[in-house]
Amino acid sequence: MDFHGRDSAWSLLIGQTIALLYLIVVVPALIITLHGQICNAALPETPTTKCNSSSNYKEGSKFESNLNRVFDSLLQGTKQSGFNISEYGESPDKVYGRLQCREDLTVDQCYTCSQYAMTTIQQYCGNAVGGSIWPFHCFLRYESYDFIGQLDTDLGSIYAEDFRGDTGIFIPTDFHSSAQNLLKKLSGEAAPKTTRSALGTALDSFSQTIYGLAQCTRDLSTDDCTQCLSYSINKIFKSYPGYAGVQYWSQSCIVRYEIYPFFNSTAL
Ligand SMILES: *[C@@H]1O[C@H](CO)[C@@H](O)[C@H](O)[C@H]1NC(C)=O
Ligand SMILES: *[C@@H]1O[C@H](CO)[C@@H](O)[C@H](O)[C@H]1NC(C)=O
Ligand SMILES: *[C@@H]1O[C@H](CO)[C@@H](O)[C@H](O)[C@H]1NC(C)=O
Repeated sequence: MDFHGRDSAWSLLIGQTIALLYLIVVVPALIITLHGQICNAALPETPTTKCNSSSNYKEGSKFESNLNRVFDSLLQGTKQSGFNISEYGESPDKVYGRLQCREDLTVDQCYTCSQYAMTTIQQYCGNAVGGSIWPFHCFLRYESYDFIGQLDTDLGSIYAEDFRGDTGIFIPTDFHSSAQNLLKKLSGEAAPKTTRSALGTALDSFSQTIYGLAQCTRDLSTDDCTQCLSYSINKIFKSYPGYAGVQYWSQSCIVRYEIYPFFNSTAL
């Protein structure tokens, strides 16, 4: 897998095919120009990072060795179930960490994403005492205070794949209500599960498949997970209406819908 903002070549290829089929029905003339736009839509080369730069730790400090220890432990621990939390050290040098992969990832894919997340967060956040990174397939956060189990709907990043404003583009009138219903259904399934995650599909009135994801960090309670997901779903359909696909990543949960298969359904 390529963690620089794209899904695997496989799902991109299918994504392109489906996106094209979707358009071919109504506006063949626009296919060529929109083709690139759909596939490359709004996904940047590097994932979003948020650094807590309220202070910086020193090279060779106790905090740094605690952080390395937490990262090692997360990397090993995540091999078992795609999720781990870890804390190490004594205040004020104590470090808390959390790492979670999307549930359809293989153990190897999760490991690759986790390693990438750790290397990249250190590049972007330097010696900041806290940081979060969302490399599309996994999510890593560390802090100098105990954030584990805390609901935090603070937005990490949003990616919207834009069909909107392109005159003549056909999206069935029920597309967004179908997408919203799918995400609500997935939220209801995800929140009580120990994985706090659900992936699934629905059809709109033109038998176009919509692919969806609702996922909380696993340290969240069922109630907080429900709250995070419903907050995010309301937010995307209110603040980002009309898109063909949206990913909304907050500190505690992720919601996403697309018109191409962005996950590996054989792994579920
Ligand atoms: C940043 O870290 C400090 C502790 O060093 C903490 O008090 C503060 O809440 C953190 N900010 C965020 C946004 O997590
Ligand atoms: C994290 O991984 C360690 C093994 O490395 C395991 O003992 C621990 O139970 C895991 N914690 C969680 C919350 O999964
Ligand atoms: C999908 O998941 C299955 C089962 O985990 C795995 O064997 C396969 O390699 C995965 N495919 C891709 C494209 O990641």
